[in-house]
Amino acid sequence: MTDRNDPSRRDFLASSMKAAAVAGMVTAAGCAAADRKGPTIAVSAGPTPRRIGADGQIRFGLIGIGGRGQGLLDVLLKQKNISIKALADLDPNNRKAVIEKVKAATGESIDVYTEPDDYKNKLLARDDIDAVLSATPCWLHGPVYLACFAAGKHFYGEKPMCIEANEADALVEAQKKNPQVVGQIGFQRRASKLYAEGIKRIKEGEFGEMIDGRAAWNNNWGPIGRPSEGARIWLGRRKLSGDWMLEQACHSWDVINWVAGEMPVAASGVGRRDVFKDMDPQRDVTDYYIAHIVYKCGLNVDFEHSWICPHKDKEQFTGVFERFAGTKGGITFGDGWMYWRDPSMEPEQIKVDDGDHTVRAIEAFLNSVRTGAPNVSTVETGRLATYTGLLVRKAVDERRWVKIEELL
Ligand SMILES: NC(=O)c1ccc[n+]([C@@H]2O[C@H](COP(=O)([O-])OP(=O)(O)OC[C@H]3O[C@@H](n4cnc5c(N)ncnc54)[C@H](O)[C@@H]3O)[C@@H](O)[C@H]2O)c1
Repeated sequence: MTDRNDPSRRDFLASSMKAAAVAGMVTAAGCAAADRKGPTIAVSAGPTPRRIGADGQIRFGLIGIGGRGQGLLDVLLKQKNISIKALADLDPNNRKAVIEKVKAATGESIDVYTEPDDYKNKLLARDDIDAVLSATPCWLHGPVYLACFAAGKHFYGEKPMCIEANEADALVEAQKKNPQVVGQIGFQRRASKLYAEGIKRIKEGEFGEMIDGRAAWNNNWGPIGRPSEGARIWLGRRKLSGDWMLEQACHSWDVINWVAGEMPVAASGVGRRDVFKDMDPQRDVTDYYIAHIVYKCGLNVDFEHSWICPHKDKEQFTGVFERFAGTKGGITFGDGWMYWRDPSMEPEQIKVDDGDHTVRAIEAFLNSVRTGAPNVSTVETGRLATYTGLLVRKAVDERRWVKIEELL
């Protein structure tokens, strides 16, 4: 899509190198960004979590357990040495389902909290809870995860890490102040051996200098967040979901940033927020957009994201993928096939026993909590994905190149 010799692109890249220097500094310095838009959020050093040990029992509190949360809970309840103590959720049907699941799996009767601030004032105030599983609507992620750090509770919290830049900075700061707390963000691809192996090969230079990234998130099962879905209308409201660049594409940004090893320098894009207005006049999410993202390392990424798939079975209109090509070869994620320009080299598929990424992610979380093993999906990488989502959202809204320094 972009010509490397195009003068406007060269000018853009030259000017964006200054932004890159800033982006690099911020990547390295974590929350050292000045001149950000939202006010700085003060964070505190909470209590140190209790030591659990390799075979110890982990006592859980659950916060916001709807559709995704119940999927995560099913995985958690199959693990050894888990106890569930309490649930905070606003929805009576979800509460009932969770109470029944826990009773059936462990025999426990859990305490239940029903008000919006109970997660903080009641559940996180308990001293018989070591860790939290949380899958609330996106706008609440930042506040819940900050409260977990302040209370000294480990947490597995769904993505995106948060939908505001100042919350992202504060979470990185909170992790620094509370280094014993395992704060794992729900980017399950981070627990995949296939992704880890593919990215290792990229970093080892097997495909040469990485130039071309292509990724898509084209949905054939929506749109979701319709008025008929009750409380789940939050998915059709930017204020509550952050919009699809935060709610859904954050998985893609996380993979792309992982490949690039840095935050993007700039993005451009165009899109539409009015596609399903006839169904819901208040719907204000960008149900269709395309974006172009530039990295200091030379990687350029084209991304497409859509809910307007006209036929659910037509694969050209639908699907999720990330693929990367360099001067010597390329790799497609999802399936892990690798190709080389050298005709003597046969395509090769990464063969690993990967299983379900969400199961691997929950297992990794429990292992980190018990043994102190490295966190596979940290708040630092969560911050990069949130910033990338905010960058792309601004670029699409304003239909222009936006430099990352405009957000910092
Ligand atoms: N990692 C993945 O692949 C994946 C997949 C799907 C969804 N998600 C993420 O999971 C999260 C939840 O999505 P969902 O589809 O389950 O949404 P949902 O609406 O079905 O569930 C959200 C739950 O949070 C509860 N809640 C809302 N406010 C609360 C409060 N103040 N205190 C306690 N509970 C509260 C709701 O009552 C509901 O039960 C979203 O952030 C979404 O992006 C991640």
